[in-house]
Amino acid sequence: MPRALTKPVELETIVSLAKRRGFVFQSSEIYGGLGSVWDYGPLGVEMKRNVKDAWWRAMVRERDDIVGLDAAILMDPRVWVASGHVAGFTDPLVECDKCHRRYRADHVHGKVCPECGGTLGEPRQFNLMFKTFMGPVEDDAARIYLRPETAQGIFVNYENVQGTTRRKLPFGIAQIGKSFRNEITPGNFIFRTREFEQMEMEYFCQPDQADTWFEHWIDFSLGFFKRFGIRADNLRTRVHADNERPHYARAAADVEYRFSFGWSELETINNRTDYDLANHSKHSGKDLQYFDEEKKEKYLPYVIEPAMGADRTMLAMLADAYDEEPGEKESRVLLRLHPDIAPIAVAILPLSRNDRLLPTARRVHELVRPNFNSQFDDTQSIGRRYRRQDEIGTPLCVTVDFDTVEKDQAVTIRDRDTMEQVRVPIEGLVAALRDRLDEIRRRSAS
Ligand code: GAP
Repeated sequence: MPRALTKPVELETIVSLAKRRGFVFQSSEIYGGLGSVWDYGPLGVEMKRNVKDAWWRAMVRERDDIVGLDAAILMDPRVWVASGHVAGFTDPLVECDKCHRRYRADHVHGKVCPECGGTLGEPRQFNLMFKTFMGPVEDDAARIYLRPETAQGIFVNYENVQGTTRRKLPFGIAQIGKSFRNEITPGNFIFRTREFEQMEMEYFCQPDQADTWFEHWIDFSLGFFKRFGIRADNLRTRVHADNERPHYARAAADVEYRFSFGWSELETINNRTDYDLANHSKHSGKDLQYFDEEKKEKYLPYVIEPAMGADRTMLAMLADAYDEEPGEKESRVLLRLHPDIAPIAVAILPLSRNDRLLPTARRVHELVRPNFNSQFDDTQSIGRRYRRQDEIGTPLCVTVDFDTVEKDQAVTIRDRDTMEQVRVPIEGLVAALRDRLDEIRRRSAS
């Protein structure tokens, strides 16, 4: 679909739409807002759920080689020693001797504090994991962490899953859930936050197949974003240089999106080798080797990991879908979201709040509701309601008018992108909506 906007939408425009329409609010806003933590409002929670469902469908339900898991956020603290996060999940920071603000050492130039003019000390390593205590005593023995990645829940359950499902290599375990990082320089709205959701999959394979699977998962990841509406021109992959790979990865590549603030990572694909299983074997004393029945040998599988952020993906989808079409009086703001991602798929709009229309409009809603996520709206003028639905990305509106009740028992379907209207009998409405949504799906994929 040709867009009116030709350059990336500014982040402030998305932030203001998200707030105005109830997608995302700042955490604890009535107390002034908690830094870089966000709450998802009525539309945001629908949209983020759709993003996660789309990923789960593509990753787990449409494949034979991947199963799901939902591990707890709290884990034995020894997990994070074995994984290398206690020692290595750090940022080099410098601290001001006057105001005690901390900065990433590579983000400041010179020794002067940008806030207060104090002197910055020597760089020190600062661990990004949130710490808390478990049980009644607050001592070092009770210290545990909020997980900084969901991946470790998968590694420590590798044997449980492999044993109970009797899987042979290669196979994967997928998980969606919250992660926490005490980021020093969070920002760009929901792009980098301190509490966020990850969608991660650990793919266990024979070591000599790892490079092939690494390429496969890069292609799959790009395919996922394109399938659910992100334009190919705004996506690229970038292989990490030797000095930027995480401590556990032998090879890493990012899928990046062209935001208004520059190309930025949506997903990272890592070749984690046998790093995690080897370390968990060593620290737990449990032999996690795989017995290869064909080769008649035991070895630790290698792991390829596509790791995606749900919040970041949602931000990219919002940014990519945003459009403004010039109009005679004012421009039309719309989100050209993929129908599987849009918070509302179908809006039911009686032409006016007239007693002759409302019972039929309600009946139409009851017909549509079991099939699509739908919303009934009878406030304000019909023109305004179309605009409101365009602005939140609703692909189709169904209008019930006086002809519906007095003449033809038919309704009008309006297409968000083309503004085309077609008249269809109520009897065939669900099938017609399904066809139209399919058409918009095809149009949205790149
Ligand atoms: N298990 C591998 C791992 O966690 P990562 O590159 O640190 O790798 C994977 O994170 C993805 O999680 C990122 O590509 C990003 O989408 C998301 N992510 C990471 N830190 C985030 C943060 N502070 N805020 C929002 N999303 C984040």
